[in-house]
Amino acid sequence: MVALLDGIRSIRDLPIENKKVFIRVDFNVPLEDGKITDDSRIREALPTIQHAIERGARVILASHLGRPKKGPDPKLSLEPCAARLAELLSIDVTLPEDCTGDAPRKVVFDLRAGQVCLLENLRFHAEEEMDDDGFAKELATLAEVYVDDAFGAVHRAHASVHGMAKLFRDRGCGFLLEKEIQALGKITGAPDRPYVAVLGGAKVSDKIAVIEALLAKVDKLVIGGAMANTFLRAKGCNMQASRVEEDKLALARTLLEKARDRKVEVLLPTDVVCAPSFNAREGALAPVGAIPEGNMALDIGPASLEAFSAAFTGAKTILWNGPMGLFEKEPFSSGSFGLARAMARATTDGGAFTVVGGGDSAACVNACGAEVAGAMSHISTGGGASLELIEGKKLPGVEVLRTAVEAARS
Ligand code: 3PG
Repeated sequence: MVALLDGIRSIRDLPIENKKVFIRVDFNVPLEDGKITDDSRIREALPTIQHAIERGARVILASHLGRPKKGPDPKLSLEPCAARLAELLSIDVTLPEDCTGDAPRKVVFDLRAGQVCLLENLRFHAEEEMDDDGFAKELATLAEVYVDDAFGAVHRAHASVHGMAKLFRDRGCGFLLEKEIQALGKITGAPDRPYVAVLGGAKVSDKIAVIEALLAKVDKLVIGGAMANTFLRAKGCNMQASRVEEDKLALARTLLEKARDRKVEVLLPTDVVCAPSFNAREGALAPVGAIPEGNMALDIGPASLEAFSAAFTGAKTILWNGPMGLFEKEPFSSGSFGLARAMARATTDGGAFTVVGGGDSAACVNACGAEVAGAMSHISTGGGASLELIEGKKLPGVEVLRTAVEAARS
């Protein structure tokens, strides 16, 4: 089997001194009223940017932000990201008003060794998502070396991730992409066992392929969050007003049968914290078989948390993707926060290799504080990208970096 990083050069080995270096980053950060609410993706890109600065590269950063569909949208400008980056690095970061055309050409022409610019949102051009050749060529004319450090976007065959990379003989990965692939590669290759995977989040339908892939690898599969409702309903529980994917009940039964055939132990909640609405100020505890009429499950209960945490005992590898409930609201946060703490303990006390993937679970772990977040072996910056890697899919933005793929322009 080809190792995930085989044939991919690291920025360490690329000739970047005094060169114009295009670094694709993922600054797709959450914003509220124009303010960044979580800058992890920017901070995680700093080692690569700092390395490029220290080696005297002329640094051209580029990213998407959100999903603009009708051209430029001031609400999705990368301006807040440029400002945050400038603050974190204590340097000026120029933001040309567009990613192609005269504005970036002029800014890049004026860049001196060690200086940094950030191009405006790549998705202000529909050609980015179309992996358009002309657009890819135009971006490529700005630089001499291509580096991808946007792990969160490598599952997208978009122009800045895929089409343009092919045009560089000197192309490779940054430190974040390298770190993500190494960590996730450990759990997709031959993970140390026992291996426990915890899946949560809203929908079974989003995670069918991941569940299938995990059933071939894990010893225990823990299912929580709204996703568990569909499995519990499939097993005959009346979930009352809880969110259930009625059209996925047969699929849930099939997955449970597959788990049984493969001798994978599946743990589902036995009790829940429920309420009549998402906006309720408090929740009531109920066994899964006795949820009061009109109530919906919004978190796992303490008995479930205890059983899920006990599943970590002796585990050597633990993967978590998707929260256990509506953790953003205090009355429904105990299950997800408790699970994060149990996973941190399994790392520090039990020596497990622990990986957290997906934006919501990462936000949940970060909300538990630096001690819990810092204990995890790896917190991925990728949502869809980490799931696709776990599913065993080839990621276009990674495959294109392999040197076996000939550069179209040399
Ligand atoms: C993410 O947030 O998962 C990445 O930045 C990719 O964004 P996308 O799902 O809009 O392509």
